Amino acid sequence: MKIIEVKDYTEMSLKAAEYIIEKVCQNPKIKLGLATGGTPVGTYKKLIEDYQENGTSYRNVTTFNLDEYIGLSGENKNSYRYFMDVQLFNHIDINKNNTFVPQGNSKDVEEECLRYESLIVKNGGVDLQILGIGSNGHIGFNEPGTAFSSQTHVIELAPSTIKANARYFNRIEEVPTKAITMGISTIMKSKEILLLVSGETKKEAMSRLLNGNITEGFPASALKNHPYVTIIAEKSAVSGLR
Ligand code: F6R
Repeated sequence: MKIIEVKDYTEMSLKAAEYIIEKVCQNPKIKLGLATGGTPVGTYKKLIEDYQENGTSYRNVTTFNLDEYIGLSGENKNSYRYFMDVQLFNHIDINKNNTFVPQGNSKDVEEECLRYESLIVKNGGVDLQILGIGSNGHIGFNEPGTAFSSQTHVIELAPSTIKANARYFNRIEEVPTKAITMGISTIMKSKEILLLVSGETKKEAMSRLLNGNITEGFPASALKNHPYVTIIAEKSAVSGLR
């Protein structure tokens, strides 16, 4: 894993955007895996700025999001489909038909997991997967204990995840307790991974990632088995750990 330490959130966002833009320019038909949450918002802003200023085109890019809450439709302001539209897709020239997010309001969520996994395979797999990390080490919504062999599946969110994500809802009771997430093996099949890490609240997780064992008890540790991972981390999340 290659680590790039940056001074703050702005620098993380800029470096991450530059990284993604370079990949999109090299391969205009790239398949991007995307994350939601607070960490990539600044990166998406920089992608939009670059699109407006330099015209980098996403016309032929396909995207697959990591996860979606079960029970929320894409029109719900707290859904990850809505998040992606507002934070990125509405502002660039991507064809929305080529932007995929698991459908959280599917009648049959197990069926939806199978459909989503095979959709990724049919499209030739993810070339570059953007990830954030949970303070408990989750990647996507793969909570501690998830099998490394897992494909897209339904997950019960950990209490700490519900608590962390309650900031986007009116009340913690409104946070869905389940989600559909790409599995660890789905994530590991992507050709390249870019992990973004922001803030001191992630320091303990980064300590475990950088210095701990590879174990299903700490999902992000699977990344150590991937040949091509780049981490862009704020100083506050990694200083003194290596
Ligand atoms: C989001 C996702 C999660 C987040 C993680 C960190 O699609 O899959 O793994 O990346 O929970 O969230 P933030 O960035 O809000 O700290």
